Amino acid sequence: MRTRTLGSTGPAVSSIGLGCMGMSALYGTTDDAESTATIHAALDAGVNLLDTGDYYAMGLNELLIRDALRARPGSREQAVISVKFGALRDAAGGWAGYDGRPAAVKNFLAYSLNRLGTDHVDIYRLGRVDPAVPIEETVGAIAEEVQAGRVRHIGLSEVGADTLRRAASVAPICDLQIEYSLFSRGIEDEILPTARELGIGVTAYGVLSRGLLSGHWTRDRTPEAGDFRSLAPRFGAGNLDRNLDLVDALREVATSKGVTVAQAAIAWVLSRGEDIVPLVGARTRERLAESLGAGELALEAADLVAIEQAVPAKAVAGERYAARQMLDLDSER
Ligand SMILES: NC(=O)c1ccc[n+]([C@@H]2O[C@H](COP(=O)([O-])OP(=O)(O)OC[C@H]3O[C@@H](n4cnc5c(N)ncnc54)[C@H](OP(=O)(O)O)[C@@H]3O)[C@@H](O)[C@H]2O)c1
Repeated sequence: MRTRTLGSTGPAVSSIGLGCMGMSALYGTTDDAESTATIHAALDAGVNLLDTGDYYAMGLNELLIRDALRARPGSREQAVISVKFGALRDAAGGWAGYDGRPAAVKNFLAYSLNRLGTDHVDIYRLGRVDPAVPIEETVGAIAEEVQAGRVRHIGLSEVGADTLRRAASVAPICDLQIEYSLFSRGIEDEILPTARELGIGVTAYGVLSRGLLSGHWTRDRTPEAGDFRSLAPRFGAGNLDRNLDLVDALREVATSKGVTVAQAAIAWVLSRGEDIVPLVGARTRERLAESLGAGELALEAADLVAIEQAVPAKAVAGERYAARQMLDLDSER
């Protein structure tokens, strides 16, 4: 497994990270045994970056990671655990805004450390900016936890260029976690250049556009109730067919190279810079093996041209989130 360093101050991580969200939440039926086997297979393959959020299944995703690491002595030291916090939930699974107050940061962290069964989180980040709390205050509180040894590095999630600058003026930021894929190229104009100027790396999520860009999504598949994708505009009627036409075009390029659609999509993200680390949301060993195959691909300039001709920059139909959720994205302002 190749490694990449997150920003100018961050840790060395595997060039492909494992996003654990879908193992517990948002993508339909889950299977803890297969999820655990997938985490173990990732560790065995040299993947060390594990991403979670304390609000993914309200703590259950952290417990899954804790148990998977406990079952493999020595793996906690191997792993770089990235945790998002700040989302407020309710017992019905609803979402009720974000809390980035310093006291809340310390509270969320204390609970995460307990659930993860560890004395430190490697990268800690606010999931979405709290509009009521200046980012300087939230980052300042995490910086105090860095001083105390309970957090190693500070990250950000879905913020725009101005917020990146403000946060970086308070403390070193190792990475920005943000959606980036052939379907979601919004960061290229301003956010990515700003991150580069500030020495901040990118952990790219949704590199398979939540499965839409994986080659495995079909026109007749209906997401289960409660699956994020049942409300996601790009999967919706009117947009789905157009987006899967793009996937079909990508499939032709991938097939000509002897690789799968998912591998071409992940390899394209990897090709965008050494400072970008894709997080893949594999939930099974089979999907993980497919994803990690992308790390072995050497795409040539002509391949990249063909991929971008198949999926032109702004060709995707539909926004990346439903209208209400778009409002939470500092990165989209
Ligand atoms: N900061 C943020 O705001 C934010 C937001 C969302 C996610 N994230 C993080 O980023 C991680 C990745 O995001 P994501 O899960 O949405 O991204 P993704 O990798 O684009 O999508 C994962 C989905 O793609 C499907 N898939 C099909 N083929 C695959 C393959 N070969 N490898 C992996 N998945 C394949 C999986 O479906 P099946 O399992 O059904 O096959 C899974 O449902 C999350 O786990 C989470 O840690 C962060």
